[in-house]
Amino acid sequence: MIGLLLYAIWYILPAYVTNSSAVLFAGKSPMDSGAKFLDGKRILGPGKTWKGFVGAVLLGCLVGAAQAFFSTSETFVLAIFLAVGAMVGDAIGSFVKRRLGLERGEAAPFLDQWDFLFGAFIFNGLGTIFLDLNFPSLLIILLILVLTTFLHLLTNWIAYELNLKSNPW
Ligand code: CTP
Ligand code: MG
Repeated sequence: MIGLLLYAIWYILPAYVTNSSAVLFAGKSPMDSGAKFLDGKRILGPGKTWKGFVGAVLLGCLVGAAQAFFSTSETFVLAIFLAVGAMVGDAIGSFVKRRLGLERGEAAPFLDQWDFLFGAFIFNGLGTIFLDLNFPSLLIILLILVLTTFLHLLTNWIAYELNLKSNPW
């Protein structure tokens, strides 16, 4: 079980780093250029910028390059798919949030935590059509979904205890 957990973390690491580093690269020009959707609300909103997208993807790929050092070069190619998929999933999550009438940064339980994961899994799956890439088992995927939810709750609780957030969730 511990082995499975470690494998799951190692596999999803590029997507984790990508998703959590976007905020560090946060840029000014939004990906939707301020454009609105049919419902009159922003397509993606001001929280999705090109600089954030590209910076985060590059950092995720860098993690993949470091992993490949300990593993095969396939790990690096896999990381590219995971990183791009994570940011595409994150943007689709924002698209859904705007359609639900949620403002930038408003909480959408599960969607906020899982959008980048589903993006990463789907891009990984697409990659396997063209390249000889690994794809995780259903058990590993479920383990990652549960682990991510748990980690999210834990980090929010820590941020609350450190007075960085006003509520513990
Ligand atoms: N970010 C960015 N570009 C991206 C993704 C994220 O610049 N493609 C930055 C933005 O500053 C964003 C922050 O990272 O506000 C946190 O990302 P996230 O939680 O995904 O966005 P939210 O602000 O919560 O917006 P949304 O409601 O659309 O999820
Ligand atoms: Mg958010």
